[in-house]
Amino acid sequence: MTKTARAFTNIALIKYWGKKDQKLKLPYTNSLSLTLDRFYTDTSSEIIDSSKDIIYLNDMLLNEEQSKRIIKYLDSTRKKYNFSEHFKINSVNHVPTSAGFASSASGFAALAASIDQTMALNLDKSQLSILARRGSGSASRSIYGGFVEWIAGDNNNNSFAVPIDENPDIDLEILSAVINKKAKKISSTSGMEKSVETSPFYPNWVKLVSSETNEIKQAIKQKDIQKIGEIAEHNAMSMHALTLSAKPSFTYFEPETVEIIHLIQELRQKGILAYVTIDAGPNVKILGTHKSIEQIKSYLNNLSDVTTVVANIGHGIQYF
Ligand code: PMV
Repeated sequence: MTKTARAFTNIALIKYWGKKDQKLKLPYTNSLSLTLDRFYTDTSSEIIDSSKDIIYLNDMLLNEEQSKRIIKYLDSTRKKYNFSEHFKINSVNHVPTSAGFASSASGFAALAASIDQTMALNLDKSQLSILARRGSGSASRSIYGGFVEWIAGDNNNNSFAVPIDENPDIDLEILSAVINKKAKKISSTSGMEKSVETSPFYPNWVKLVSSETNEIKQAIKQKDIQKIGEIAEHNAMSMHALTLSAKPSFTYFEPETVEIIHLIQELRQKGILAYVTIDAGPNVKILGTHKSIEQIKSYLNNLSDVTTVVANIGHGIQYF
């Protein structure tokens, strides 16, 4: 019977922003994330008697153009593990309607886990993380639950994620504020490239990530949510400073993004525990406690064009 692999998405508290090797997807720095329980991808793969892969996403057959990235990934996996089988892949994203999360992290983690199962490759979790990384950098971290660090490494075999605390006993929640607006897309790959090549601040970013990674690991150990939030927010803003200082300058922020950043700063002054983090898009993720997230939700629901989804801490890869 075909098994399904489930991978949850993750939100980086210390961002991955810049590759030192494009092809292998080796990052310049470590990064650190929290796996979330609300958003996941279920993927199954079946060997077929064909020289072509067939890919279904959300029950829809993808055409050649749409399946290009996945087929390229399967080709490189066949080469690496020396097999020639082709597959019917069935991948379903369980992400509340436009929750503002990129599905590439959960998507490639679930695909890697599914191929490992179907081909009985018996990969250990580090090898699985490497395989997921080759699809999308952030997918390397979705192999584990809870707090996860991706160690940058300097070659294909030593760039993988490690768990920091898979089941943290901490009152931390993430609220995703989705801005219902079609923004112009700059892919993370292209945004990273422009930042690395043209931002004068990039060398400082590399130093900053190193110190903030150490600091946030301390804060995680001490279950200090305020400190975790402060570091995560500063790190996200520093990442976006790289886009603003690129030549030519660009930004993922929309007016509503800035509006929410200001709102969270005001709420903080009123004593509500809340910090923001933002990825390569306009949506804002807010870190807080169960109590503070409930309060923030009511403020955000007053804004037009914004919807909210709350997530808790999620698991690593599962099979069923
Ligand atoms: O994995 P990618 O190529 O989609 O890049 C992810 C980049 C960020 O989401 C902005 C940061 C991160 O570490 O997840």
